[in-house]
Amino acid sequence: MAEGLFISIEGIDGSGKSTQLDHLTKRLDLEGIPYLLNREPGGSGVGMQIRQIVLDPKNPVSPTAELLLYFANRAQNVDEQIRPAMAEGKLVISDRYTDSTLAYQGVARDLGQDLVAQLHAIACRGTEPTLTIYLRIRPEVSANRLRNAKKDRLEAEGAAFHFRVYQAYEALAAAHPERIVPVNGERGEGSIADDIWRILMERWQRRDS
Ligand SMILES: Nc1ncnc2c1ncn2[C@@H]1O[C@H](COP(=O)(O)OP(=O)(O)OP(=O)(O)O)[C@@H](O)[C@H]1O
Ligand SMILES: [Mg+2]
Repeated sequence: MAEGLFISIEGIDGSGKSTQLDHLTKRLDLEGIPYLLNREPGGSGVGMQIRQIVLDPKNPVSPTAELLLYFANRAQNVDEQIRPAMAEGKLVISDRYTDSTLAYQGVARDLGQDLVAQLHAIACRGTEPTLTIYLRIRPEVSANRLRNAKKDRLEAEGAAFHFRVYQAYEALAAAHPERIVPVNGERGEGSIADDIWRILMERWQRRDS
């Protein structure tokens, strides 16, 4: 059986990740392509409990505790969800993965990308996405989209924080052009979905090579 394929989707809050994953999973269902959708924080029973701790605006989670909670969640999902699905030949799609931690905790929270990389090695043990779709939108566009939304603990951070996250994503995309594919997210949902489908299917069809 063919090995699966592990991909992630990244981008600042409100860049349209969840919206695009709805489009994508509908299309995968239609085509009969087996997949696993992993969401961070969340994605497993343990992950959902961690998600509540991390995102609750009433919780005074310290920056280092936040970092470790994200990696505890990820370690759990790698073992319980991602690796078994890969072994079954599935397409594994993660709504956020370590690039998010590099951007939010490493850069925006200033904990350092080296520390994040060390914890990534411990938690993920070589489970890396082959392809990362980066939904690129400017922070002012996302702020406009989310202006009436109820915000979680990280979304409630100020404009300077979100700008740092955006800059970190831009730097990651520039540093890893072989893996991270930027997709213009400031367009209609349908044309973004078409682009993502094309990029993904090209990679899926040559997953054994
Ligand atoms: N292409 C688009 N054009 C305009 N608005 C959009 C587009 N895609 C999504 N939206 C809207 O923007 C908001 C945020 O979208 P969505 O929840 O998909 O983003 P997200 O990246 O998953 O955010 P988060 O990081 O908070 O999970 C929603 O109200 C959604 O309807
Ligand atoms: Mg989302």
